[in-house]
Amino acid sequence: MIRRPFAAIQGLGVAVPQRVVTNADLEKTLETSDQWIVERTGIRQRYWAGPGETVASLSQTAAETAMTQAGVTANSLDAIILATATPDRLLPSTACDLQALLGADHAAAFDVSAACPGFLYGLTVGEALIAAEQAETVLLVGAEKLSTITDHQDRSTAVLFGDGAGAAILRRVHEGNRGVLSNFIRSDGKLAPLLYIPGGGANDPISEKVVRERSHYMKMAGREVFKAAVLTMAEACDEALRRAGVKAEEIDLLVPHQANIRIIEATAKHAGLPMDKVMVNVDCYGNTSSASIPLALNQAVHEGRLKPGDLVMLVAFGAGFTWGSAVIRW
Ligand code: ACO
Repeated sequence: MIRRPFAAIQGLGVAVPQRVVTNADLEKTLETSDQWIVERTGIRQRYWAGPGETVASLSQTAAETAMTQAGVTANSLDAIILATATPDRLLPSTACDLQALLGADHAAAFDVSAACPGFLYGLTVGEALIAAEQAETVLLVGAEKLSTITDHQDRSTAVLFGDGAGAAILRRVHEGNRGVLSNFIRSDGKLAPLLYIPGGGANDPISEKVVRERSHYMKMAGREVFKAAVLTMAEACDEALRRAGVKAEEIDLLVPHQANIRIIEATAKHAGLPMDKVMVNVDCYGNTSSASIPLALNQAVHEGRLKPGDLVMLVAFGAGFTWGSAVIRW
């Protein structure tokens, strides 16, 4: 049995684009209604980035707040891990662009591609770098511009997604019991066709045909994703608790991936947690994929719902299919 915690989150920061898009705005261009969106998803508004707002620039704003909160400088970062499904460009990684913006000259920077649980995959990698003495201080970011891979003519997906960024500073723990107590990551590539972008990658590079067929946008089998999400989130909660050696009733706050209020409620029910112990802000941001957990975590801290010494469980699922979880003594 390994001795934990190795690492703790010591600072958080977030950033969202300026433009708010409400359900009423979507009613103007899509055959949809505020009532349908709220009843089926819990979403009331989301943020969509404009041309000047990049994944790297949103990440920079979030990272600078997290670094100030943790009292660390860019020079002291050993690694920058940026979880995203929407890199600003395919080469180099957006993490390298972020490194340049921050002036973090001593870091190794790389992207993690794991869709919505990207922040939890990044947390696992960051903690492992610290445990293996490869790093003392890691900047972990989840950032997305999902509005750029959303088909705005497809009402079954266009209402769901939003843009944003959340950052955390992960640092070595020298003493005490506060920090990451467990994490769990898993995937099942056989489920890829449930949620994917068919074209625009190396297998079918961007072309007139790809654009005409709109195959550079996300395709999703909503009902099947819903069912897989409920099952995988349940397994992830069980595993994170088991690995941390804690019981569900000891958890002070559950911070689940914010995709759909009904998935969140099903996850809380499985874990045996009442909704007043569950962080929900899907109404405000929609599904921001890898930014979702840090956006919710940051809000929980600011609202006083997560205090030093509390036990928090994080859980997420997404395209891949990927899923993951963590238990942290805050
Ligand atoms: N407005 C109005 N009606 C709509 C809309 C809309 N925006 N979208 C779909 N409908 C219609 C459908 O056409 C269908 O009509 P029909 O009965 O006449 O055929 C009806 O509403 C019901 O459609 P369903 O797909 O069965 O609706 P459901 O209750 O399953 O809700 C939803 C759809 C919200 C997409 C749900 O399935 C869901 O949340 N799935 C999970 C999605 C998710 O979390 N994806 C993110 C994964 S994370 C990542 O990696 C990015």
